[in-house]
Amino acid sequence: MKSLFFIAALGILAFSCSVSDENMLISQNSEEIKTKLTSEFWQPKDVFAIAALKKAKEVQYGRDLIIHTAYYLGPRGRIAQQTNGLNCQNCHLDAGTKPFGNNYGSVASTYPKVRARSGKMESIEKRINDCFERSLNGKPLRENSKEMQAMVAYMQFLGENVPKGEKAAGSGLKALPFLNRAADPTKGKAVYDLRCASCHQSNGRGIIDGIGQSYVYPPLWGPHSFNDAAGLSRISNMAKYVKYNMPLGVNHDDPELSDEDAWDVAAYIESKPRPHKPTPKDWPDISKKPIDHPFGPYADQFSEMQHKYGPFTAMKKAKK
Ligand code: HEC
Ligand code: HEC
Repeated sequence: MKSLFFIAALGILAFSCSVSDENMLISQNSEEIKTKLTSEFWQPKDVFAIAALKKAKEVQYGRDLIIHTAYYLGPRGRIAQQTNGLNCQNCHLDAGTKPFGNNYGSVASTYPKVRARSGKMESIEKRINDCFERSLNGKPLRENSKEMQAMVAYMQFLGENVPKGEKAAGSGLKALPFLNRAADPTKGKAVYDLRCASCHQSNGRGIIDGIGQSYVYPPLWGPHSFNDAAGLSRISNMAKYVKYNMPLGVNHDDPELSDEDAWDVAAYIESKPRPHKPTPKDWPDISKKPIDHPFGPYADQFSEMQHKYGPFTAMKKAKK
């Protein structure tokens, strides 16, 4: 008798839980969320407010893969072992939603698009795999895999409120003025030791969690870092990312580093060794190479050293 009562009570409990979950989903839905888009910058919609269960599951799994990439796909990943152990979120902050934290706000609205690096039309899947092969120094995902489709679904959901063809304010990385000198790795080391080494360590290797699965502080160089074909291997991307997002916790409207410190610390990080990925097919039209691409050949006469560290102003003028 007692146990029967217990089972009945459990049933009621389970029932009332599922009902209140439903209610929560409904009450947080659509209209309310639209009114939250008051910020000057693009703001993502809430993935936990999707009413359709099937879509909610897929989008939330996509978000989970962005946050906990290593848990699923890292060197000790439970699905496959095909990356260096970084999480997408390490560079696409707050699951790819932070203003100027390299967010995904304009992915759905601007892809597929022709990218100068490959000279080809690229889908979101192709672009995601670029980060798998470069930033995560790993193997690409099958395009029709559940994991790839979930990440695409997440990015499409995030970008639903951006009109097709437009770039949302605050998406990607924030512009940073050039210095009128070359960025200086020696000056950058001083900044690094003072402002970064406490988390990323003076050897740049970061700190991994107790079970060796995921980084608490990700590596910035060395064998487990992004490779030399990754977006962050360009000093301008690194300087912009760092200026407006690091040390951890700063925002684009309240940065802590001066422009000089951001460029110099970026130079220090770029001066360090990291995995090499041969990319003979990149930049089929070399005149389209960004000026800070760290490897030749180039369409101009400036040295590889100047392309890597600057000064950039004269190069930019020459390009025009
Ligand atoms: C080490 C840092 C790093 C990691 C880790 C990383 N990315 Fe990226 N990603 C970048 C940078 C930097 C860019 C912008 C590059 C550029 O514009 O040259 C970028 C761009 C992208 C873009 C295109 C954004 C746009 O608006 O065009 C997508 C999509 C993307 N990454 C997905 C991912 C996914 C998915 C993962 C995890 C599997 C990932 N990235 C991991 C650094 C990283
Ligand atoms: C309080 C600890 C802390 C400090 C100090 C800090 N970082 Fe980070 N950094 C992090 C964490 C944590 C992440 C990953 C963020 C995430 O996953 O949400 C990160 C990510 C990064 C990344 C992208 C991921 C990668 O592995 O390449 C770069 C680059 C970076 N930090 C550079 C710097 C620089 C340069 C400084 C000093 C100016 C700095 N950080 C200071 C904690 C810190």
